[in-house]
Amino acid sequence: MDKEILLVLSASVVFLTSYTRLNGQQTKLHREQFHPLTFAEADKKADSVLALMTADEKIAYVGGDRSFFIRPLPRLKLREVYMSDATQGVHIRDKFVGNDLSNYELDKSTSFPCPISLASTWDPELSFRYSEAIGEECRAGGIGILLGPGMNAYRQSQCGRNFEYFGEDPFLRSRMIEEYVKGVQSTGTVATLKHFAANNTDYYRRRSNSVVDERALHEIYLPPFKAGVDAGARAVMTSYNQLNGEWCGQSETVIDEILRKQLGFQWLVMTDWWSVYDGEKLAKSGQDLEMPLAVALKDAHALIRDGKVTMSDIERMAKSILRTYFSMKFDEMKRDTLYYDNFADHEHTALQTAREGIVLLKNDGNILPIAANTKSILLTGDFVEKLAVGGGSAEVKGYNSKLMLDEFKKEFGGKLVYVKDPSAAQIQSADIVVCNVGTKDSEGWDRPFALPEDQELKVRLCVENNPNTIVIVASGSGIRMTDWNAKARAIVYAWYGGQSGNQALAEIIAGKTNPSGKLPITIEKEFKDSPGYGYIPAGESLYSGWNDGKEKEHPIFDINYKESIFIGYRWYEKKKIKPLYPFGYGLSYTSFEYSDLSVSKEKFSDNDTVTISFKVKNTGTVRGTEIAQLYVEDVHASLPRPIKELKGFKRAELEPGQTATITMQLTRKDFSFWNPAAKGWDAEKGEFIIHVGSSSRDIPLQKSIELL
Ligand code: BGC
Repeated sequence: MDKEILLVLSASVVFLTSYTRLNGQQTKLHREQFHPLTFAEADKKADSVLALMTADEKIAYVGGDRSFFIRPLPRLKLREVYMSDATQGVHIRDKFVGNDLSNYELDKSTSFPCPISLASTWDPELSFRYSEAIGEECRAGGIGILLGPGMNAYRQSQCGRNFEYFGEDPFLRSRMIEEYVKGVQSTGTVATLKHFAANNTDYYRRRSNSVVDERALHEIYLPPFKAGVDAGARAVMTSYNQLNGEWCGQSETVIDEILRKQLGFQWLVMTDWWSVYDGEKLAKSGQDLEMPLAVALKDAHALIRDGKVTMSDIERMAKSILRTYFSMKFDEMKRDTLYYDNFADHEHTALQTAREGIVLLKNDGNILPIAANTKSILLTGDFVEKLAVGGGSAEVKGYNSKLMLDEFKKEFGGKLVYVKDPSAAQIQSADIVVCNVGTKDSEGWDRPFALPEDQELKVRLCVENNPNTIVIVASGSGIRMTDWNAKARAIVYAWYGGQSGNQALAEIIAGKTNPSGKLPITIEKEFKDSPGYGYIPAGESLYSGWNDGKEKEHPIFDINYKESIFIGYRWYEKKKIKPLYPFGYGLSYTSFEYSDLSVSKEKFSDNDTVTISFKVKNTGTVRGTEIAQLYVEDVHASLPRPIKELKGFKRAELEPGQTATITMQLTRKDFSFWNPAAKGWDAEKGEFIIHVGSSSRDIPLQKSIELL
């Protein structure tokens, strides 16, 4: 890289600015990393402002303003703070009647591959760059708070928002999310961990009660939030659902007890939009800010008069908002349009994420990459002329969007013919058929595991009429492939790739990029195989579209997390159900061989760190990246434990013939489970097995070790 540093005196003077010229072309603006004020420093400032606020001002401050703002208070020089969705880029709002958003108008924002695609990269460093770019776009738009990362669990494949989240495994999610938080906040933008907690379906999302036991909460659902809290996240958004019978946004157990005391979160807690109902409970719960406006606390004055809410409850809430405000230096913050200069770099990060996040599931006879001597390629499918995107508040329009048709034409020129609805004869006569199917996943509802009927029929038509059919899946979640999986020659899981996703996809199909993504989820054969099956109340069925009216009439219903800690591969392994594609799985155009597993200590005690090392060799003929995975098995446990659990992973980029020695370190926590009797993490003495391999089901190396 040819680096050229130009020092520039920034307009806002808050940051030292420099430009790096990459390869003599792109420039990237670097700010000095943002350092927030500590709790004690921010607390002092918050105290001094709170002392000057009138009771009315304090009451007003704890309700949101104009849908997406923390309210300004000009008398005390408190600025308004604008919030924007979401995890995969900045959602530009243009439809807020009566809201003057002119100070926050971005001409454009980069549409990144969806978070489940980011999770498929298993690349925490990329997660940092991805979210740093989004943080910079927030700065360019004067947006103080990013309403992301979305980070609920992939408990079942039908959840409409799985595309916004990071998959099924708490360890992988935690590693990606902690870097995500650091990336966003390194720019001075708040990261909001959402939605707390156990919000894993969008089916009548304001009416469900997640019934979750203590172990499942601590082992599966809370760890990514804890990782985000420890990474310094300055905000948490509570969820729409009830957890064990209480609305999360007004629950003392959820907020005060679990989030604040157990996870140690000290900063701003806000409700999800229109999700709380009882002002008294809200004020006592540890909640700080009711969004989008005070509804439960609409009659705060009356609640105070009746002694249900005290002024000190309101002060606690207002102070927490102020603390976060000062910690992030919002009193000095300026919109910084110089960051537009980095959009080309952001676009490149989006492209890189798609390159790493696409997962190759099947490649019989190495039909991919498509051979140079192929004469005719027939391209068909629903997302050839338009981008596949996830919908709802997370949707990002993007710019420079690359369509599949154009990108494939670039790679294959005149060999490529696009036919929207090909006949059997047309399919038969092509050398290769590329059939693209997918789902339109969205916030607000869940969607069937099965493809829409027309798409299912189309993909079957293709595989039945041409043995060289390559299927490309555009979806935010697992889909049913059972009836055509065996006949498809290759399957590429492309997720929602954002504005540059189709470029990465075409590169992979043509062999310019070697795929390396691995599934952050298990894809089941049938939905009934999955742990989430049966969550919809008897006699009801899925719907699509916003249904706020109907929602109000729907009774509150329980979703029993009866599988407890056994979600994802933990479930399929325990139940001995073979999934179609296992967690951690993904192919490459090269092959890898694992060997020489060794451990630094075969017997270890509580305070030891055990170093695990092994070798991975590229045994194929092209350069490729392997994501090596380490799982831990507790051989004899006093409580039921998963057969194995992910506790480490590393990416290794290798030339043909090259070998990497990979090391990972484990501590007591990695061998522990949540012990409800002791209300804490326990590691029991005895034998553990270390499993090392290329997916949760492909484990070439194992070694037994003992905790003394
Ligand atoms: C979503 C949140 C989002 C909020 C603001 C809600 O409907 O659940 O994820 O941040 O709207 O747009």
